[in-house]
Amino acid sequence: MAKRINKIFDEKQSVGQVTINGWLRTRRDTGAFSFLEINDGSCLANLQVIAEKNLANYETEIAKLSAGCSVIVSGVLQKSPAKGQDLELLAESVEVVGWADPKTYPLQKKRHSLEFLRSISHLRPRTNALGAVTRVRSRLAFVVNNFFQERDFVQVHTPIITTSDCEGAGEMFQVRASGEKQDAPFFGSPAGLTVSGQLQAEVYAQALGQVYTFGPTFRAENSNTSRHLAEFWMIEPEMSFCDLSCNMELATDLLKYVLTDVLDHCGEDLNLFNKFIEKGLLQKLQTVVDKDFVHLTYSEVVEELLKATEKFEYPVTWGIDLQSEHERYLTEKVYNCPLIVTDYPAAIKPFYMRLNEDGKTVAAMDILVPGIGEIVGGSQREERLDMLQKRMKEAGIDTNEYDWYLDLRRYGTVPHAGFGLGFERLVQFVTGMSNIREVIPFPRTPGFAPC
Ligand code: 4AD
Ligand code: MG
Repeated sequence: MAKRINKIFDEKQSVGQVTINGWLRTRRDTGAFSFLEINDGSCLANLQVIAEKNLANYETEIAKLSAGCSVIVSGVLQKSPAKGQDLELLAESVEVVGWADPKTYPLQKKRHSLEFLRSISHLRPRTNALGAVTRVRSRLAFVVNNFFQERDFVQVHTPIITTSDCEGAGEMFQVRASGEKQDAPFFGSPAGLTVSGQLQAEVYAQALGQVYTFGPTFRAENSNTSRHLAEFWMIEPEMSFCDLSCNMELATDLLKYVLTDVLDHCGEDLNLFNKFIEKGLLQKLQTVVDKDFVHLTYSEVVEELLKATEKFEYPVTWGIDLQSEHERYLTEKVYNCPLIVTDYPAAIKPFYMRLNEDGKTVAAMDILVPGIGEIVGGSQREERLDMLQKRMKEAGIDTNEYDWYLDLRRYGTVPHAGFGLGFERLVQFVTGMSNIREVIPFPRTPGFAPC
């Protein structure tokens, strides 16, 4: 069995026989041998291989290796005299598994723009930056699950195909069977891809107490921004016997927990981002872990924005939906840390959010972070049957279609709350990538879905 290169560096064992495999990043020739830089994706660092000219296939193969070729190398690990690395592999055999024609292979040794790399999404994970994003994304998914499992949350796999539009924003992709007739829909009624697993998570929260769903969600919004995808992943906890402040506490704990973990476990990859993608990234992440989040109501935010000398494209009045320019002004210029905004106007939020005493605002909470704006959106849910029915009617929702949802308020209703954390926005925040298309393996945006 070949050994993964990250294990070799972790163990720091200077001697011994090993076999590794991977892809060549560069070849450099000197008098008596060639240096081969091999990367196997297990970590950012390459393992340096010394291939001496006396190897049987040196002239016929090794001397012709170029970036992208795949190889299996066996040899002896030894202490490296070179600066910047502890170990190198003195090859006893170098087997070429697959060639990569240097005349056509797009990833030659130079810096490629992230825009260019997007146009070759089948090859871009082979670069340092995209490989690092992929490892950090995987670690984040793992720690998110850990966080909830440690707290006895039950994971629920909510459906991808659904007949309910949770956000009521009319942004659903439709799902139809080929040849389906309009008057005889495959699922009995018109179906679409889910925009959120929340409503179904609420069903399970009212049986299992604390649940979470973590899956793909879809929005047919035509926004070509650096923070929107048509297909993205969302983490959605839902808790019975929980109000808005308990909800905010969980969201804060979750963010601090995952950031602490990646600072501990993804140092090498984060250092790369800190150096080349966002200067000061490590400091930013550490600050979020250490500092208390600022907490303001929507009304306080509006006052703050009205005081600003900054000119906004969207004018501010009480009742507007906050735009990303407002969110970023607050988090980057005023507070320089995450901000929890609560109690938004009912008119700009979905039907399921609990109406406050004032009759104008709802028990909503969004968490805004520097560089991104909204990363979490959540609320306490309307658990009172009559209020919920009223809110649904006002929103023009057919209450008959949501009878199952209303049943949750008819039978053993409880105060409950939850939120959605956009997974890609989290990965964006952690890696410093300015465009969300860099943090999902295969981005889907209007006009774009290759592979
Ligand atoms: O604020 P949103 O729309 O909330 C919900 O869907 C609730 N049902 C969640 C819940 O309470 N269970 O979305 C939640 C988060 C946003 O804060 C944002 O981080 C992310 O999902 N998000 C997107 N991420 C990428 N592309 C998009 N088009 C996104 N839309 C929302
Ligand atoms: Mg939102």
